Amino acid sequence: MELLPLLLACSLLLTVAAPARDITDACASQINDFQHLNSSGLHLTLHHPLSPCSPAPLQSDLPLSAVLTHDDARVAHLASRLAGEAVSSRPTSLHKKIKAAGIADSLAATVPLTPGVSIGVGNYVTRLSLGTPATSYAMVVDTGSSLTWLQCSPCVVSCHRQAGPIFNPRASSTYAAVPCSASQCGELQAATLNPSACSRSNVCVYQASYGDSSFSVGYLSKDTVSFGSGSFPNFYYGCGQDNEGLFGRSAGLIGLARNKLSLLNQLAPSLGNSFAYCLPTSSSSGYLTIGSYNPGQYSFTPMASSSMDGSLYFLSLAGMSVAGSPLAVSSSEYSSLPTIIDSGTVISRLPTSVYTALSKAVAAAMSGTPSAPAFSILDTCFQGQASQLRVPAVNMAFAGGASLKLATRNVLIDVNDSTTCLAFAPTDSTAIIGNTQQQTFSVVYDVAQSKIGFATGGCS
Ligand SMILES: *[C@@H]1O[C@H](CO)[C@@H](O)[C@H](O)[C@H]1NC(C)=O
Ligand SMILES: *[C@@H]1O[C@H](CO)[C@@H](O)[C@H](O)[C@H]1NC(C)=O
Repeated sequence: MELLPLLLACSLLLTVAAPARDITDACASQINDFQHLNSSGLHLTLHHPLSPCSPAPLQSDLPLSAVLTHDDARVAHLASRLAGEAVSSRPTSLHKKIKAAGIADSLAATVPLTPGVSIGVGNYVTRLSLGTPATSYAMVVDTGSSLTWLQCSPCVVSCHRQAGPIFNPRASSTYAAVPCSASQCGELQAATLNPSACSRSNVCVYQASYGDSSFSVGYLSKDTVSFGSGSFPNFYYGCGQDNEGLFGRSAGLIGLARNKLSLLNQLAPSLGNSFAYCLPTSSSSGYLTIGSYNPGQYSFTPMASSSMDGSLYFLSLAGMSVAGSPLAVSSSEYSSLPTIIDSGTVISRLPTSVYTALSKAVAAAMSGTPSAPAFSILDTCFQGQASQLRVPAVNMAFAGGASLKLATRNVLIDVNDSTTCLAFAPTDSTAIIGNTQQQTFSVVYDVAQSKIGFATGGCS
């Protein structure tokens, strides 16, 4: 990830007028984001959260240290969710707000909210259209959560600042609020890990909370969702009346986790039960496809099943090598923790013993390069920039023969203009294949056949 050059470029833009047009020109082809439906599924453009071409870019001066702090919060909440712990996330104030706003006066104030995954700042962005006539919204894509929601007027309590107008249900002829008796209302508990509630007018109220202090609360609704020429009636989603937190300037979130209410599951009858993406760097664009895909190019690994959380995507890491040599750990260490693959975690987390062996092997292979002090959660750092250094090949092998042959940009992350660090960190709870390692690979989640595939050259 070329975070720092991008941040510098963006801060320059604030002071120099002329280059702004250059960036705009560079993004012009992406501004009308590609949306195409054909027999091989639905094809959408995907943007890096810090890309200047994103329809909802994060604040461009966000330091990498802040990105990594949010990343740690996301990882901690994924881990606590898997451990079945309820970590409090301002539940009391959230309940008070909901009641004060009259959104749901039947809400049981004694039930604590279970936070979901911290949205953090690592999630990628695409566009979705909603309603009749259809209007388009910039949405964060999250494989770690299930319910899709977006900010809805009249924003009874609060809407964050978003790019473009806020969805107005009254302007859509196909909009309907979902009653409390609907089966979809009963499915909210599994989708959001929070109980649903019922409004005075008998409309089902959802509460999606994301671990840090981010949350969205509002009415469960249905309307026609569309992407280019493809439209799908009766899509269930949250119409957010109180939306607070780290959502950038996006309108809301698309949930791609494995749950009845996720976008994937709702579109699966029309498109097929799989999705694929290529996560771009901050200076390129990638894609998200939903539906059938060409299996030929991929190497596959089975999705592992877990009783801990059926909505996350588990797989089995089987081995790692540096410059062709396997790491000096016994093979059982790789499976010593459950492992998930996640689009929103920036830095991969490995079992501590595996991480230590990786760090040593990379440092040994780069012994000619002067080392540098640790940076935030990254402790294996070197003087220089990744693109200028000789970096050993790092390979991640998965059960069944799938592998990620990491390029330099997937191994090292430049933390400032004189330092680059190994983009992995140790963990004792849940191992995670994060997005720095996935960048520019094609990754397919074939839920129908319970397997995950990797292929190179994804974003090109
Ligand atoms: C469907 O569209 C995508 C994106 O334009 C394209 O890459 C793919 O080849 C198309 N598939 C078929 C079967 O036409
Ligand atoms: C870059 O980060 C390293 C590692 O934390 C630090 O030692 C160094 O002082 C930083 N350099 C600059 C120019 O900020």
